[in-house]
Amino acid sequence: MPTLASQSPHHCCLISLHSQPAKMLLRTAALVWLSLLSPASALYKQWIPDTNYGNATNWDKGSVPCGTDRVHFAAGRHVSVYVETVYSVLEMTLPVDGELILAPGAAFVSSNGQDPGCGAGVTATFKDSEGFRWFDPELWRAAATWDDLQASRYLFAVHEESVPCRQDDVVFRPASSFRVDVSSGQQSVPVKSITIQGQKFSSSSSFSEYLSSRSGKLQFHGSSSPVVTPSGCNDATGCECGNTADRQRICASVTCPHVACQKPLQPVGHCCDVCGAIVSLQFSGAFNLESYRQRLLHLVLNKPSYDSVRVGVSKVQEEQRLLGFIPRASESKIQVVLVEGDSGEHASWLVDAAAKDIIADARSNGGDLGIEDADMELSSGDAGGGEAGVVVGAVIGVLLVVVVLLGAGVFLHRRGTITLPSLPRMPSISSWRKSSGVGDLGGTLDHGFDNPMFDKPTLMPSEPGLYGDSANSISITQSGVHFVNPAYDETDFTA
Ligand SMILES: *[C@@H]1O[C@H](CO)[C@@H](O)[C@H](O)[C@H]1NC(C)=O
Repeated sequence: MPTLASQSPHHCCLISLHSQPAKMLLRTAALVWLSLLSPASALYKQWIPDTNYGNATNWDKGSVPCGTDRVHFAAGRHVSVYVETVYSVLEMTLPVDGELILAPGAAFVSSNGQDPGCGAGVTATFKDSEGFRWFDPELWRAAATWDDLQASRYLFAVHEESVPCRQDDVVFRPASSFRVDVSSGQQSVPVKSITIQGQKFSSSSSFSEYLSSRSGKLQFHGSSSPVVTPSGCNDATGCECGNTADRQRICASVTCPHVACQKPLQPVGHCCDVCGAIVSLQFSGAFNLESYRQRLLHLVLNKPSYDSVRVGVSKVQEEQRLLGFIPRASESKIQVVLVEGDSGEHASWLVDAAAKDIIADARSNGGDLGIEDADMELSSGDAGGGEAGVVVGAVIGVLLVVVVLLGAGVFLHRRGTITLPSLPRMPSISSWRKSSGVGDLGGTLDHGFDNPMFDKPTLMPSEPGLYGDSANSISITQSGVHFVNPAYDETDFTA
């Protein structure tokens, strides 16, 4: 009776539809080399799910089929399945439209029903892979460099920026197959480049050609398709991600964790509240997002003491709100979001300290860096966040007083009760901004009404001098950013 060990895969291949060329390794090598030469800019976004034969999560039985199992691909399913190595099967039914991509040396061998340790054998069905959506932020990983991607040094990104931005390089893992639903509100989904099986598509024509190939049609489906647009970002100060139009789609697949901190923050581009810190920077034309990102890594993430802090920096469009609630205009700013660990569920003093380091750096080197102003919010309720909250509360209070006085004045004036004198010198908003020093405000101001973001007046900073100035401007920010892995490597390999 033949045993598995005695069988050579070369003699018993049941199927060999599509063999993976050995050229791939060379291509990968070339890609890494090329990436050393190209100018810096984007992040890498890697698709997580795969439709590999050898991934247990792809089988209804929860493990990869073994020699006594009957392997079943539903007839109507469109699948591209990567087969990594030699698998023994009893029997296999294939879909009408699909492909099996055999890695070098991969094959199926006939078990003749014998596979010690496999058990009685079942029908193992390949799971449905239709549901994996491009705009699901949980299905992507971000890395700053190609090198980081290989070394699993991933970034943490706000949800909108977890999904590939138009200036990003999209990577589907080598030695894997996938199927992604690219349904979008937009006609197309622009990205800078797409790498599939080690082959990098960096022109619109080469990728659209690939899309119309057999593999392309099996891998990408849905109402839109990705379009490679190499010149996605030519602005050294950075580019916005461009996913805001699909925000609803993105947030629909996110379940927000419960956050345990005093003043949860709402980063722009994120679907959930986070605990941590947001540093907001006003920048000039001299600012360079790439080099600033590198700088932050040295400033914060490469310090062993900040081991667990994750930080990310990006340009976002912040809606300016007059006095916190009247939408006015939107303005670009650079946002640095710092969280503890992966999820941003908890606050930590480490995050606060790192944010203060960043503020101090921005203040002392702002001229060289192209940073014109910097302020921060802390979810711990300490310092910056608390101060901003009190300032906002104070301004709202003043506004209400002004409105009431004006209303009363106009009313009385109309009735002829009073002739309108020059109004008492009310502090103007700008003077409140300038005088937002801690001492002026104290902790007893009436907030006028509850601002959900700052519902509790908080402690004054223990060291006002350290960052008092930086918190001068009122910022009710909703910031959004990605978070860089602390173990980040300073070498910048980009493509
Ligand atoms: C298997 O697939 C799951 C989900 O698609 C993915 O998270 C995991 O990384 C894959 N496992 C391997 C070993 O690639």
